[in-house]
Amino acid sequence: MRVALGSDHAGYDLKAAIKEYLQGQGIAHQDFGTFSQEAVDYPDYALAVAQAVSGGSFDYGILVCGTGLGVCIAANKVAGVRAVCCHDTFSARSAREHNNANVLTLGQRVVGPGLALEVVKVFLDASFAGGRHARRVEKITAIEEKYRCGH
Ligand code: RB5
Repeated sequence: MRVALGSDHAGYDLKAAIKEYLQGQGIAHQDFGTFSQEAVDYPDYALAVAQAVSGGSFDYGILVCGTGLGVCIAANKVAGVRAVCCHDTFSARSAREHNNANVLTLGQRVVGPGLALEVVKVFLDASFAGGRHARRVEKITAIEEKYRCGH
């Protein structure tokens, strides 16, 4: 499993905690920044992680901003990305099992690091259930294909 990590300044500390968790678990990962607390624009980091997942070099992406919302909206603009903002383990598990989500987003201003790491663990451990859910995810992809620009 390979995980692409990214955050803006408002998610910097939680990204660092997630990075430490992944290191401790021996999960391969790459940090796409930001690399300081200096204010930056979250779409830049969402795009970097989303492209890394969409391109197939990474299985999952994890993005952190203040709320988890801006990076989620931005990442979902990239074809092949199914980003979900989850601050509870039920949603995180369901997002993998039902929606085949491949990017998890979190808000450092919303959730503490303890719960956030639980959410990360559940998200990475869960698997897509397939079956009837596959048909529904295919319909999401069909919407993406229909509205894809420049292709
Ligand atoms: C930065 O202040 C904040 O707007 C950003 O981290 C994020 O919460 C946006 O959705």
